[in-house]
Amino acid sequence: MNKALKYNISLVGSALACIAILMSSCTTDPNSPGVEYMPDMYRSPSYETYSENPLLPDSMTAQKPVAGTITRGEWPYSASLVNALPYAYPNSLEGYEAAGANLKSPLAKSTETIAEGKVIFEKMCMHCHGKEGQGDGQLIGTGKFPPPPAYNGGALKDLTEGKMFHTITYGKGLMGSHASQLTKEDRWKVIQYVQELQKL
Ligand code: HEC
Repeated sequence: MNKALKYNISLVGSALACIAILMSSCTTDPNSPGVEYMPDMYRSPSYETYSENPLLPDSMTAQKPVAGTITRGEWPYSASLVNALPYAYPNSLEGYEAAGANLKSPLAKSTETIAEGKVIFEKMCMHCHGKEGQGDGQLIGTGKFPPPPAYNGGALKDLTEGKMFHTITYGKGLMGSHASQLTKEDRWKVIQYVQELQKL
């Protein structure tokens, strides 16, 4: 056998060997991935949603939502939840307008809540806003502080609760922020009382 022929045979031989190796991963089943090197990397050992699961304490793959999960589209009231939720509106005119349009109180209106709001108002707001929200509080009487507008006056009569919450949270003009003094729940409570004063 001459040298060139020997060389050609070994070339064809190794080519065939390569093809055979490549073909070994082919199967007739279209769903089969063929020979798998480390099958766990291709297919994780997952469980079907409603199948039994030996890894979980109640043996069910589908687990209940964790405690405190909020139902989408619903707002089950809880004070700790109201207080824990971050305030989404930025301290800007756009944030103020957006809060006015979209932010709604999570508290149902009730005489008890209005009464609680009144207690907060008398402690935290009355010295400026006055007993009936006319902008004639004790501090204004000293003449050192310009009067805030009346809640039942033209500018504030129809002020939305979202804008009120925004103002109490960040402050507005000469009114400072009350975010550190009042929890979010307390802010919503005092707003219920301010809404009563708007109607006077
Ligand atoms: C230091 C005095 C002062 C205190 C305390 C104060 N306010 Fe005000 N408040 C003002 C002034 C001044 C304005 C007018 C702000 C402006 O429009 O520039 C105002 C405005 C408001 C408005 C109208 C906000 C708006 O968006 O136009 C509301 C509602 C309000 N205050 C509620 C409260 C509540 C509730 C409290 C107590 C938690 C409170 N304020 C405490 C001085 C005060």
